[in-house]
Amino acid sequence: MDKLRITGGQKLHGNITISGAKNAALPILCASLLTADDIQLHNVPRLRDIDTACKLLAQLGVTAQVDGENITLNAGQITSLEAPYELVKTMRASILVLGPLLARFGEARVSLPGGCAIGQRPVDQHIKGLRAMGATIELEHGFVVAKAKRLKGASIRTDMVTVTGTENLLMAAALAEGETILENAAQEPEIVDLAELLIKMGARISGHGTERIVIQGVEKLHGATHSIIPDRIETGTFLCAVGATGGELMLHNTAATTMQSTLDKLRKSGIDIECGDNWIRGRMTQRPQAVSFSTAEHPGFPTDMQAQLMALNCMANGTAVIVENIFENRFMHVQELIRLGAKIETEGHTAHVKGVNQLFGARVMATDLRASASLVIAGLAAQGDTIIDRIYHLDRGYDRMENKLAAVGAHIERLRQESL
Ligand code: EPZ
Repeated sequence: MDKLRITGGQKLHGNITISGAKNAALPILCASLLTADDIQLHNVPRLRDIDTACKLLAQLGVTAQVDGENITLNAGQITSLEAPYELVKTMRASILVLGPLLARFGEARVSLPGGCAIGQRPVDQHIKGLRAMGATIELEHGFVVAKAKRLKGASIRTDMVTVTGTENLLMAAALAEGETILENAAQEPEIVDLAELLIKMGARISGHGTERIVIQGVEKLHGATHSIIPDRIETGTFLCAVGATGGELMLHNTAATTMQSTLDKLRKSGIDIECGDNWIRGRMTQRPQAVSFSTAEHPGFPTDMQAQLMALNCMANGTAVIVENIFENRFMHVQELIRLGAKIETEGHTAHVKGVNQLFGARVMATDLRASASLVIAGLAAQGDTIIDRIYHLDRGYDRMENKLAAVGAHIERLRQESL
């Protein structure tokens, strides 16, 4: 398994181009199942999860022509309606083929994702919503087996806000008969991006980005061309990095409008942030100030930024109180940060982070995607060398992070398995 070696203490200076949003690209790739026509995508991030999604779609018979950040998909010749465990277990977002397959083909067999490091992450709300639309859904031998002659529009209120649950139901409703109302819908920018693609494909959707989405089902959807929105979490991650090391980063091809709650908290930590239409400049000339926060559904502070801002708090002046409200086990990075000298105490969903003057390099292990990012941020500021193991977690959601950081002055390199 590859590792990252970071020699901390270098300030970051320069330009970084932000990649397309992983969590917009994944549902949008699955939306290609809703039509027999070509779906042409631009600004697709080059990530392990995108590769996995393309492998899963290929398993179903979808062709994908990949040319860097451009992918053209065609689901005109679907040969299978089954998403196998081998692929689903490596990426939970595979559940996003369920809604489209059921809506267009009336049938789907999707392996249950199983748990993951940050929590159980059940899909009961996806199933509840599809049943409300007339699907018969059984759980058989670890598979969700779904059938529906034709889905019917329904009024659905999920028990909690679920991002991929909203996305599955949105895609299913696009081809259902009649009107569907999704109450308590997720409002993330990635939902809006998916809806905008579906509308380009001929879907009739309103209210996306609010808690109430209304969809008038249509008979058929056609091809479209779409550019994926920028990744607000990658943007926030690099801002935390410059907050940790000091210096100045100019982030290009990003959208401040999709991440106001993140920018507000980072400004409170002392980072000087200026925004343009498609750029954000972060400058840090002081020791960070501790910033307390609680994660919440959009437009609240995103859970996907929790580990990164915790890392910044580890070296801040003062004590921060962090509450993780979305997942039940998203503090896996705490023990690893403590190995770097952080002072953190956790109690259930709350972490108390007492900032220290200096972190010290050590060997640490990535446990999940955003935990890996927090270890990179801490390593960039720590004195001495930090070796991060199991960085396949990082590669799932960050497009060549070490290249982007090395280009702005970080001493960071990938130690490939064969050379170890
Ligand atoms: C999406 O996961 C994101 N992944 C996650 O990003 C993100 O952390 C999460 O939303 C929250 O913002 C993608 O978009 C591919 P949820 P998702 O359904 O949809 C519970 C990253 O780092 N729940 O909104 O799986 C669930 O257990 C990843 O990029 C049910 O109980 O999250 C959780 O506690 C990590 N039953 C809460 O709701 C359900 O049927 C929110 O989960 C669905 C969800």
